[in-house]
Amino acid sequence: MLIAGNWKMNKGKIDEAVALARDVRIGAYNLKGKVDIMVAPPFTVLSHVVDTLKGSRVKVGAQNMFYEDAGAYTGEISPDFLLDLGVEYVILGHSERRKFFHETDETVLQKALKAREKGLKYIVCVGETLEQRERGEAKDVVGRQVKAILDGGAYSENLIFAYEPVWAIGTGKVATPELAQEMHGFIRELLGENRDTLILYGGSVKPENAEGLLRMDDIDGALVGGASLNAESFVKIIKIAEECV
Ligand code: PGA
Repeated sequence: MLIAGNWKMNKGKIDEAVALARDVRIGAYNLKGKVDIMVAPPFTVLSHVVDTLKGSRVKVGAQNMFYEDAGAYTGEISPDFLLDLGVEYVILGHSERRKFFHETDETVLQKALKAREKGLKYIVCVGETLEQRERGEAKDVVGRQVKAILDGGAYSENLIFAYEPVWAIGTGKVATPELAQEMHGFIRELLGENRDTLILYGGSVKPENAEGLLRMDDIDGALVGGASLNAESFVKIIKIAEECV
């Protein structure tokens, strides 16, 4: 299992980022070690968080990256810069990136291919909007997003999927464990012979609802937004995950 914290555009001041990372590190210290842990802070504090977590079980990820190594791409971040800092994971194609920054299946694929080439662990986010679910298109949409990666040749042992129904992100409306399981099972089928790939659930995961989700057969962890901004609730979710392994 993997429990990953996506801080989004929060905790980006150095003092608050270091404090949160330190508290997660302390909280993770007494855990049993059965679950992988990752936090993804904003770019500007990545190096501080890497330093704070050095030598601990908590790994560091970026929330995005570009698909070229270097060049005239104003404002973008190369995977080489991330590797140089000691970053091991990258989140790709989060629904907020697809919505606000017009990322498409094609650009997410390019990024996944680059992450694969570089040996980063890459979490590719997929998920339908409320309108798509109401129109009965949830599996079509998620299937298309997953296949864009798999058919595009971006599978590797470092690939992780995160199913994050857009209507459940930051809304407090968590998917029921059964609904999430159904989609996770569907993604697992699409993976075919690579069915060992981790599939995380994301969308309003909190200590109160984590157990039901993490007990499901095809849910291999969580991508946690809001509840990862507080070390206590984030560590609680990791503890629950340890009980569900
Ligand atoms: P949330 O965010 O837990 O705040 O809903 C999850 C995510 O967007 O990764």
